[in-house]
Amino acid sequence: MEIRRWLLQFLALLTMTTALLLNPSASTSSSISTVDDLPTLLSFKSLITKDPLGALSSWTINSSSNGSTHGFCSWTGVKCSRTHLGSVMAPRLQGLSLSGTVSPFLGNLSRLRVLDLSNNKLEGQIPPSLGNCFALRRLNLSMNSLSGAIPPAMGNLSKLLAMGISINNISGTIPLSFADLATVTVLSITSNSVHGPIPPWLGNLTALKRLSMAENMMSGHVPPTLSKLINLQYLTLAVNNLQGLIPPVLFNMSSLEYLNFGSNQLSGSLPQDIGSMLPNLTVFSVFYNKFEGQIPASLSNISGLELIVLHGNRFRGQIPSNIGQNGCLIAFAVGDNELQATESRDWDFLTSLANCSRLFSVGLQLNNLSGILPNSISNLSQKLETLKAGGNQIAGHIPTGIGRYYQLTMLAFEENLFTGTIPSDIGKLSNLKALSLSQNRCHGEIPSSIGNISQLSLLTLSANNLEGSIPATFGNLTELISLDLSLNLLSGQIPEVLNPSKRNEFWCESTRDLRGDLREEFTIQRTGATS
Ligand SMILES: *[C@@H]1O[C@H](CO)[C@@H](O)[C@H](O)[C@H]1NC(C)=O
Ligand SMILES: *[C@@H]1O[C@H](CO)[C@@H](O)[C@H](O)[C@H]1NC(C)=O
Ligand SMILES: *[C@@H]1O[C@H](CO)[C@@H](O)[C@H](O)[C@H]1NC(C)=O
Ligand SMILES: *[C@@H]1O[C@H](CO)[C@@H](O)[C@H](O)[C@H]1NC(C)=O
Ligand SMILES: *[C@@H]1O[C@H](CO)[C@@H](O)[C@H](O)[C@H]1NC(C)=O
Ligand SMILES: *[C@@H]1O[C@H](CO)[C@@H](O)[C@H](O)[C@H]1NC(C)=O
Ligand SMILES: *[C@@H]1O[C@H](CO)[C@@H](O)[C@H](O)[C@H]1NC(C)=O
Ligand SMILES: *[C@@H]1O[C@H](CO)[C@@H](O)[C@H](O)[C@H]1NC(C)=O
Ligand SMILES: *[C@@H]1O[C@H](CO)[C@@H](O)[C@H](O)[C@H]1NC(C)=O
Ligand SMILES: *[C@@H]1O[C@H](CO)[C@@H](O)[C@H](O)[C@H]1NC(C)=O
Ligand SMILES: *[C@@H]1O[C@H](CO)[C@@H](O)[C@H](O)[C@H]1NC(C)=O
Ligand SMILES: *[C@@H]1O[C@H](CO)[C@@H](O)[C@H](O)[C@H]1NC(C)=O
Repeated sequence: MEIRRWLLQFLALLTMTTALLLNPSASTSSSISTVDDLPTLLSFKSLITKDPLGALSSWTINSSSNGSTHGFCSWTGVKCSRTHLGSVMAPRLQGLSLSGTVSPFLGNLSRLRVLDLSNNKLEGQIPPSLGNCFALRRLNLSMNSLSGAIPPAMGNLSKLLAMGISINNISGTIPLSFADLATVTVLSITSNSVHGPIPPWLGNLTALKRLSMAENMMSGHVPPTLSKLINLQYLTLAVNNLQGLIPPVLFNMSSLEYLNFGSNQLSGSLPQDIGSMLPNLTVFSVFYNKFEGQIPASLSNISGLELIVLHGNRFRGQIPSNIGQNGCLIAFAVGDNELQATESRDWDFLTSLANCSRLFSVGLQLNNLSGILPNSISNLSQKLETLKAGGNQIAGHIPTGIGRYYQLTMLAFEENLFTGTIPSDIGKLSNLKALSLSQNRCHGEIPSSIGNISQLSLLTLSANNLEGSIPATFGNLTELISLDLSLNLLSGQIPEVLNPSKRNEFWCESTRDLRGDLREEFTIQRTGATS
């Protein structure tokens, strides 16, 4: 019976297997097996339209494979069961630039444990028949161009541990059948077009460690039931349309290490004791929402916190003075809020940030910070790459010490009340791509050392009281694509420095700067987190 069925499958695939069919020894020798997944693999291959790397070139029946019973078990990416001859446990075919569609025949692989087709160019829908692969533990279809809805039948994968369908074009809602994925530890649907509310029953999937639903079109409120996920370490709901308050119970999930609610319409204030509730946090991100109130000082008590990303909200009051005391921060982004500094002690947070030896990004721009910029601004980590303080009321001189941040790519101090001359030490910042000091009260001559910053793409010194001539060294700024020296007291000639061909490159980079530090990939790389 089995052989007959097996032969029938073969007939269906006659075009690919003519040679083998003519060889009776191959079919009789497989009679020791009750399954043979060869037709399924051939079906998979038949729907691959482009294989530029020749990844499936071993997927052929040739003189050596034809003689052995299950030669396909040694095809690239294929792994077979040792106990059940001829049954495929894993096609692992990630990152091979394969185009085409995913064969529904894969649903016939009854012993399949791993299906990894991630990072290819597959399109079409996810075949509902995959729900028949009852043995499946890991399914990864991330980074393709798959579309259509998530098939409800996938809720039948009762042994599933990890499901990745991130970075596709999947639409529809999260099927109710997923409530049956009792063993799933990783669920990643980031970067698709999934809509609808976040289902409250997700809180029933208590094995979950990583839940990634960023960059979709999810709406409604964040359900308090998520707090039942007592093993959850990684939660991102960033870049959706969520609104309302974050349920206070969510700040009680002490297992959390990564929390990203950025770019939604969430509101309310953060609990002041967050630091004692979430002791294991490494990333805390709520950028571009409507949060208000104080930045909780207790964040400074979280020993492993690396990223604090709060920009684009309505946080008020002072920046907590001990914010950098754990020494671990790598990025501190609080720009575009209503934060205040009036007295010199309101700037103590800078002294504390000096403790963070890996700090590479500080964003204080667009707040109500005033007073004299303390010299402690020069004591931060030499790993500093971006320093943004524009759009405040900061007075005093631009400290000479800034010249020690030799890795700095962006220095933005525009729209403040800075006085004095521009320190010539700025010319030491040889990696600087953007320097913006416009709308201040700086006077004196433009230091000729700025002409040494060979990478400089954007230079704005407009609306100051700068005088004298434009330094001849500017003729060396071959990467410059934008130069604004207007509204000063300058005289003399303007060097021919604009280089329009570089424009695209530069704008790409500044967009990346805005969002880039929060892409999931970034954090995966940084923390090396996998499951
Ligand atoms: C025949 O197929 C086997 C298994 O796929 C492969 O390892 C081998 O290189 C192939 N030989 C030739 C001559 O193509
Ligand atoms: C398969 O094997 C038989 C004999 O072992 C041989 O005659 C036939 O040409 C082989 N087919 C292919 C495609 O190599
Ligand atoms: C294999 O899968 C296809 C598509 O799901 C189906 O039509 C076919 O009947 C299956 N074959 C067997 C032997 O299960
Ligand atoms: C698989 O899932 C579908 C849709 O959720 C359901 O109708 C079907 O009964 C399930 N099959 C099995 C064998 O559980
Ligand atoms: C899926 O594969 C991609 C790249 O191939 C990897 O980065 C990601 O972690 C995998 N996801 C899951 C859930 O295994
Ligand atoms: C994404 O899917 C929608 C249909 O859901 C389709 O209209 C659109 O063209 C697809 N976009 C891409 C980039 O494939
Ligand atoms: C989730 O769990 C609750 C409580 O255990 C239960 O009442 C509810 O039916 C479950 N929801 C689903 C969709 O399974
Ligand atoms: C957080 O958990 C503690 C102890 O488990 C409990 O006493 C407290 O009420 C919880 N807080 C919230 C807001 O749920
Ligand atoms: C926090 O992290 C430590 C070290 O990784 C771990 O032992 C501990 O169980 C974690 N705490 C919670 C509540 O998950
Ligand atoms: C930080 O932790 C210490 C020790 O537990 C505690 O005394 C202090 O009040 C905490 N600081 C904040 C700002 O919560
Ligand atoms: C700097 O770090 C040390 C040790 O980690 C800590 O004792 C000190 O309070 C920190 N200083 C500031 C200003 O945060
Ligand atoms: C431009 O750079 C070259 C080489 O670094 C240097 O010799 C030259 O003096 C510079 N030109 C100006 C006008 O500073």
